[in-house]
Amino acid sequence: MTAARVARPARAFASSALRAQAVPTEKPVLEKTFKIYRWNPDEPDKKPTLQSYTIDLNQCGPMVLDALIKIKNEVDPTLTFRRSCREGICGSCAMNINGQNTLACLCRIDRDTKESKIYPLPHMYVVKDLVPDLTLFYKQYKSIEPYLKNDNPPADREFLQSPEDRRKLDGMYECILCACCSTSCPSYWWNQDEYLGPATLMAAYRWMADSRDAYKAQRKEKLQNEMSLYRCHTIFNCARTCPKGLNPAAAIAKIKLELAAE
Ligand code: SF4
Ligand code: FES
Repeated sequence: MTAARVARPARAFASSALRAQAVPTEKPVLEKTFKIYRWNPDEPDKKPTLQSYTIDLNQCGPMVLDALIKIKNEVDPTLTFRRSCREGICGSCAMNINGQNTLACLCRIDRDTKESKIYPLPHMYVVKDLVPDLTLFYKQYKSIEPYLKNDNPPADREFLQSPEDRRKLDGMYECILCACCSTSCPSYWWNQDEYLGPATLMAAYRWMADSRDAYKAQRKEKLQNEMSLYRCHTIFNCARTCPKGLNPAAAIAKIKLELAAE
């Protein structure tokens, strides 16, 4: 027992002495090329191009957004993209990375030597470079009145909901409106002037499923036409691509079931 008590401080001294002598080693250069979609509205006669940027991954954070920020800060300040939270909350950095719609801040850089290709979200008008025009997407979202509608809310207390009713909103309320799902949907590509698309339809069902909302019948009525809802052909691209792991296709299927039951 006594020997063990004496040995401990001696070991601690030896390891801290070694740490003090340690010299940080430089990591070797690990080059990676990103080919990034460029288009400038101020030069409307020039066609969009893919521009190559090569950076050292050992001097960069692990995510694609880190690479984009490094390129913008150190190589080309004209590169344009949206970002804000850098942790998968705001939905701003949605783009198409190596063929998949996702959030650049949640997408790890492949540490191989292959080029990475980055485009804006597909089938949308482009404002500049990686920035899609989401005007129609937000207009559609607004059209489903994404807020609680009830003409007789409790006057003097919180509007309560049972835990069971609250659970019905799980898997929908977490949507951050990044538009990855809608812009991965072929039906939305071809009919987005009339078809609402997976993100907006899941939001519509989120309010239909809310026990406190009193306008379920009117909400259903608005979807009861050929285009708003029924252009969904259950292709499931939306569920495959959602960077938050949500399943808009399941919400759409529930709306269809409820409309069919009437
Ligand atoms: S369902 Fe997923 S992919 Fe679609 S907008 Fe919401 S978070 Fe983005
Ligand atoms: S920067 Fe907010 S989700 Fe990526």
